[in-house]
Amino acid sequence: MNYDNIISEVNNGIATITINRPSKLNALNKATIQELHSAFKEADEDKGVKVIIVTGSGKKAFVAGADISEFADFSVAQGKELAAKGHELLFDFVANLSTPVIAAVNGFALGGGLELAMAAHFRIASNNAKMGLPEVSLGVIPGYGGTQRLPQLVGKGRAMEMIMTAGMIDAQTALSLGLVNHVTAQEELLDLAESIAAKIMKNSSVAISAAIAAVNANYEDGLNGFEQEIQKFGEAFGTEDFKEGTTAFLEKRKAEFPGK
Ligand code: COA
Repeated sequence: MNYDNIISEVNNGIATITINRPSKLNALNKATIQELHSAFKEADEDKGVKVIIVTGSGKKAFVAGADISEFADFSVAQGKELAAKGHELLFDFVANLSTPVIAAVNGFALGGGLELAMAAHFRIASNNAKMGLPEVSLGVIPGYGGTQRLPQLVGKGRAMEMIMTAGMIDAQTALSLGLVNHVTAQEELLDLAESIAAKIMKNSSVAISAAIAAVNANYEDGLNGFEQEIQKFGEAFGTEDFKEGTTAFLEKRKAEFPGK
């Protein structure tokens, strides 16, 4: 599919979705959120796609936030609708996708940009990256999951400080807080993402989807993570991937998983 604000490509089982509004530091306007929804959905439904990488175009920004020019005159009801729609189309949608999503944070990840990175299943960053939730400096609060996902990732006290100060942290600090898993030079960021993706792709994508759902259950109201794990563990025994994985092990050969 052709998009105006993003580029979506598939190579060797990896879908790379690049937010492409560099003149606006890849800020997320309504159209971009809609296109991201379509691209993530399309990649998730593509049986050939085993891992999705999301990144920003240009050398400066992953995403510098939601597009402030679009909501500056919103009413209370419109503000609520903006956040709810964002969760539905992008942030919760990505967090609950059954295909693994890696955010390759290549520069500023602010506000909605950091929230998008946090909705991904994990993050890596280039050493020029800067991350923060500056919303309170604009008189608003994070509305795309930041108040929930940042404490989950770095702990309540650190999240409170980042949110209250509206400040930015650098990539090394993000690494030390566990907000990102690896930091590398900018020109090596996508190679690193692809090499991690290659390790993921050797495994059962059916089992990985079940693992994502079980891990996410811990963070969802009304779901017991341990019960979800037991359920998903049991279901795995009925899959072709499980038959192949265990048979290959016993036959001392590499598994060829049928996959999703
Ligand atoms: N929404 C809309 N436009 C944005 C934007 C955003 N979140 N972030 C950057 N832009 C636009 C700027 O308005 C500017 O557009 P212009 O050239 O048409 O004036 C362009 O992107 C470049 O940004 P600029 O501010 O000139 O770059 P800089 O290097 O001086 O500063 C930042 C970089 C990231 C520090 C700064 O752009 C910034 O603070 N952005 C807003 C971050 C934010 O508060 N995000 C949370 C939103 S809830």
